[in-house]
Amino acid sequence: MKFNQSNIKKAKKCLDSNKCIAVPTETVYGLAANAYSTKAVKKIFNLKKRPKSNPLIVHYSSLQSLKKDCLVNSDFIKLYKRFCPGPITFILKLKNSSRISKLVTNKQNTLAVRFPKHYTISKLLKIINYPLAAPSANITTKLSSVKVEDVKDEFGDKLSYILDGGKSKIGIESTIISLIRSPQILRLGGLEVKKIEKVLKKKIKINVNPLKKIAPGQSKLHYSPGIPVRLNITKPKRNEAYILINKRNKKSNHFYYISKNKNLNEAAKNLYSCLRKIKNKGYKSIAVEKIPNKNLGSSINDRLNRASKF
Ligand code: TXA
Ligand code: MG
Repeated sequence: MKFNQSNIKKAKKCLDSNKCIAVPTETVYGLAANAYSTKAVKKIFNLKKRPKSNPLIVHYSSLQSLKKDCLVNSDFIKLYKRFCPGPITFILKLKNSSRISKLVTNKQNTLAVRFPKHYTISKLLKIINYPLAAPSANITTKLSSVKVEDVKDEFGDKLSYILDGGKSKIGIESTIISLIRSPQILRLGGLEVKKIEKVLKKKIKINVNPLKKIAPGQSKLHYSPGIPVRLNITKPKRNEAYILINKRNKKSNHFYYISKNKNLNEAAKNLYSCLRKIKNKGYKSIAVEKIPNKNLGSSINDRLNRASKF
């Protein structure tokens, strides 16, 4: 995907006039609006059919701009230095003086923040003078988008603009870590937890299925293609789509490879597109081969487990 300056200007123009647009990131596409404008942020909730109780992630271009809205601590600085920009979201304390719309945070005093790496959104963030609230560009509980066609599949022509950045390189949402008390992982995602532990030099609690939800992305049903998903399947049913991560000798029109050599990064990148393709072909159900529960495989399994609660 070639970088296009005039498209970035178009995107800025829409955002400056309080519109909501789709933007590319290295994880998944986001539905973005000025995080300081309640009028703009309201449009995100309406388009996504998202309950107001579910707060949004805010995207920044620099530490300096983040510090206007949030308090930072030493764990944050260590992780920021090592992984940002990149697929990690931090939950931080909001400053009293912050200009973030109360709608973004559901009036809580914490904020989810991220520094995206994708070239196009980082260019855009540099030329606007506000941070961008941007949840994933999909209808609530449905599949996330990793390219322009997916965004169109979700929203039709309801968006003012879609900024094209090609296919998302990581393909699965950011890993969320709360730094409000001792560090806790709230969502598995594009950055492996063991890499975070290595930097913080401690074991980190993983709290992605708490009895009381902390992040609504912890909802049981999420990331759903709208048809049943069956996991750890060795023998699919007749006419069922079968998602595989390892090459088979047998051929079948119902086989859908997300990797052919158990490459978990490649599998994460292809997961949502594959689920969407299967959904759009009109299959009635999906079977998935067992995916190793390590590295990005744990994040893939988290998404598939939630998708299987249909
Ligand atoms: O990779 C990503 O993180 C993508 C791209 C577009 O940046 N964004 C994304 O946003 O996945 P979303 O809204 O689909 O998921 C954000 C999750 C939600 O589950 C939300 O509940 C949680 O973050 N969240 C937001 N603010 C929070 C807060 N203050 N405390 C705890 N969880 C929070
Ligand atoms: Mg989402």
